[in-house]
Amino acid sequence: LLRRNVKCRCIAEPVEMMQTVYKTKVSRNENMAKLQAGYLFPEIARRREVHMLKYPEAKVISLGIGDTTEPIPEVITSAMAERSYALSTVAGYSGYGAEQGEKNLRAAIAETYYGNLGIQETDIFVSDGAKCDISRLQILFGSNVMMAVQDPSYPAYVDSSVIMGQTGPFQKDVEKYGKIEYMKCTPENGFFPDLSTVSKTDIIFFCSPNNPTGSAATREQLVRLVQFARDNGSIIVYDSAYAMYISDDCPRSIFEIPGAKEVAIEISSFSKYAGFTGVRLGWTVIPKQLVFSDGFPVAKDFNRIVCTTFNGASNIAQAGGLECLSPQGLKAMHEVVGFYKENTDIVVDTFKSLGFKVYGGRNAPYAWVHFPGRSSWDVFEEILEKAHLVTTPGSGFGPAGEGFIRVSAFGHRENVLEASKRLKELYM
Ligand code: MLT
Repeated sequence: LLRRNVKCRCIAEPVEMMQTVYKTKVSRNENMAKLQAGYLFPEIARRREVHMLKYPEAKVISLGIGDTTEPIPEVITSAMAERSYALSTVAGYSGYGAEQGEKNLRAAIAETYYGNLGIQETDIFVSDGAKCDISRLQILFGSNVMMAVQDPSYPAYVDSSVIMGQTGPFQKDVEKYGKIEYMKCTPENGFFPDLSTVSKTDIIFFCSPNNPTGSAATREQLVRLVQFARDNGSIIVYDSAYAMYISDDCPRSIFEIPGAKEVAIEISSFSKYAGFTGVRLGWTVIPKQLVFSDGFPVAKDFNRIVCTTFNGASNIAQAGGLECLSPQGLKAMHEVVGFYKENTDIVVDTFKSLGFKVYGGRNAPYAWVHFPGRSSWDVFEEILEKAHLVTTPGSGFGPAGEGFIRVSAFGHRENVLEASKRLKELYM
């Protein structure tokens, strides 16, 4: 058996403006020109590369991008291997699958995560990950909608909105794009927006447990959010990619809230549960009860977009996803999540012991650490330069993230312990 074990992480280089000798007659998409900088995580990877060139001997540890590090449980990879080998047989070969995903996987997702919430197998669209579905949803909404995001928030919501042409230009003075409603989430409001000050928008992106702040919305808060959407006729896009990290009784799904099925879509992923960041598998739930202002079902339009833009998730990945939801797969995923939660405790305790105010961590694999009065990028650079640790500057997630850094708990245990030691040396 030939085992190739090649790891390659491509780092996006910013494209240098070359001296042009020939120009096409195609004008640049003006929405692309609105984007301020490269996408956050490739930019961080670039700075890390620069640092490594400067300090070739340093052992750089990344607690930056939330990329899983631990091996996928063997029970899950065995199912993928079996499916993979079956593809070499006449009986086991399959080509294009259903764009919406395999029936048994859709049924297993509906049963496992939405068992008693009235979500059916046909409401589930299996995908190659939540991030890809965010952009497919933006295609669904088109350019004439206005959206709201938590501030700070996962950058894919804002950037995809800009690319779709939903926004105005970037306003440097406030560090915000025009025509996006930024819902401030800070320690002062318990990381839940004051909805009485939020303008009505068509779409509300809401991530809980939140990336980057790590805090999860309570049932009572989500009841208010759903009521807010109902009052305004808005659609909530609820990102629950970290729901399995919830330790308390915060809802795992927006559909736990009565009335949510008429106003919400949920996106989620196997990435952070089973280490599928490279395998790629996620899903989107669009209940049949969700309709546009003319009564047309949202799911029907989404289905049309999925069929046009996507040929379905990899059949091998879907075999892995199905195994994730078997009793032994669920147990293995809980172990993976439990491991990262122990890492999170180490990270949170480290910063707390140094006297920092630390938020998040309890229900998410992210600690949100406050450096009052300091620029997030300066803190990021300080920690990289002096401790060879990569974090994520809070301002990269929105203006309300200024003064914070996000520290991810995805890492091998020895690296997290070593990072803790270096941070203590730096800030003691
Ligand atoms: C993050 O670091 O915020 C996420 O891991 C990135 C992602 O899920 O795409």
